Amino acid sequence: MSVLENYSRSTLLLFCLTSIFVLYRLALYAIATQRRDKIIRDKGCKPYKNYPHKDPIFGFDLFLENSQLSKTGGFLDKVCERYARQNTWTYSQLLLGERVINTAEPENIKAILATQFKDFELPPRRKAAFQPTFGHGIFTTDGVEWETSRSLLRPNFVRSQIGDLDTFEKHISNLIARIPRDGSVVDLQPLFFMLTMDSATEFLFGTSTDVLLNDEASARGEKFSDAFGYATEIIGLEARVGKLATMLPNKRYDDSIKFVHEYVGNYVQKAVELRNAPFSAEKKAEEGQKYVFLEELSKTGMDKKKIQDELLNILLAGRDTTASLLSYTFYILARRPDVFEKLRAEVMTLSSEQPTFEQIKNLKYLQYTLNEVLRLRPIVPSNGRCAVRDTTLPVGGGPDGKSPIFVKAGQPVNYHVFVMHRRKDLYGEDALEFKPERWESFRPSWQYLPFNGGPRICIGQQFALTEASYTIIRILQAFKAVVPQGPNTPLLEILTLTSAVRGGVQVALTPA
Ligand code: HEM
Repeated sequence: MSVLENYSRSTLLLFCLTSIFVLYRLALYAIATQRRDKIIRDKGCKPYKNYPHKDPIFGFDLFLENSQLSKTGGFLDKVCERYARQNTWTYSQLLLGERVINTAEPENIKAILATQFKDFELPPRRKAAFQPTFGHGIFTTDGVEWETSRSLLRPNFVRSQIGDLDTFEKHISNLIARIPRDGSVVDLQPLFFMLTMDSATEFLFGTSTDVLLNDEASARGEKFSDAFGYATEIIGLEARVGKLATMLPNKRYDDSIKFVHEYVGNYVQKAVELRNAPFSAEKKAEEGQKYVFLEELSKTGMDKKKIQDELLNILLAGRDTTASLLSYTFYILARRPDVFEKLRAEVMTLSSEQPTFEQIKNLKYLQYTLNEVLRLRPIVPSNGRCAVRDTTLPVGGGPDGKSPIFVKAGQPVNYHVFVMHRRKDLYGEDALEFKPERWESFRPSWQYLPFNGGPRICIGQQFALTEASYTIIRILQAFKAVVPQGPNTPLLEILTLTSAVRGGVQVALTPA
């Protein structure tokens, strides 16, 4: 009897506690719903379109299509096509069961990146995908940790440091020395990746990898390039199509991460040694010498793992992006002799001397050409954030897509710069044509966003544009023609975390 009594007493207690918990959750839910309804009413939010999935629960149809396109290329064109099919610039789709909002609206992107910056953070999916290779660095953190990384980097990008063109000159001469002068075929893309690796490591870490210079460093550098490229391809795939794409054991991925970490080990070691001899770094600063990011890292007392993370994050930013910009530029120049001739004529007004920073900035057609490459081939073609509180975006709702939309806390939002840069209503009927001349009169705002905007705007923009301009000038001074080689197939991208030319940039150059 007493056992039964005890049993029913504890059952009763459990029942009461469960009921209180359920009621508590229901009350929270009701309050949240009321609060959300109020936001929707007050802001006049209307529903956005949903992608008509064949699989309306998980969205496996798009998962399979995206996985296939990551192997063949053509993902970005497909994304444009999907927007066109929805006949809207904001719609939602399922990513393995999770609803994601897609937008290519300048006003929404401005809200996410700038005016409502505090409402959005990096998506947890991105952080998780980056984690094994890049740990916690500027590309994977928010809040105070991100601010610390950014403020450590900022002094590296002041005008006096970017304007130091001698560093570029050294590495670009190494690159030019590796371009055949007998008209034989060369793939410029891997050379550009080596160039940006050599210059970014010198600029940020104080010592160059010099992979363009000697064979031993080249072989290791190429291995690093492959490993880094593969690791970022898998991370990009996971970020785009979801965890399922990368759940199976993948030895090549594991080995790549291991080699990437080992490769930057020398720099990590150097930072640790500098910490143990702090006076040398401080003495340098007193003598007014260059700010070197790696030396500043060494002073912070960070552990080895954190130093490794920070170095890899900035290497990702500094290497792949500018190399891809140069690759797309030469791919296009080789197929557009009219642009090549006009550009070369402008460059030749400088004679064959090393250009100064001011001279570079005065080459208007060069700037227009780079703007146009970054418009049609943005190196970071799509990106994403996640709402950290209930909020709204200014447009995308209702039948005409002009009303605000409600975005609940935890909701991922992807923005497609690639699509936005090709919109005819924003750029005119010739939006899909490569036309540097459009920049003579075009003054863009949030509809042109190759470097992001708001507090997380690319910190290396001026460095990248100076390095790309300087490289183009020096190559055009040394070579008077560039023609495409290899099969005449349509331009497709290879997507890692950035976009590069699938199949490389196979060309033949004629010495000046
Ligand atoms: C053509 C070249 C480049 C392009 C198109 C580019 C583009 C971008 C974009 C779109 C972002 C935003 C990423 C995001 O928030 O999700 C970004 C961030 C960043 N970029 Fe660049 N970038 C270029 C070159 C560089 C270079 C050369 C460096 C450094 C050497 C650099 C350093 C950074 C850093 C540190 C961030 C993170 C900023 C932050 O989150 O606070 N970038 N870049």
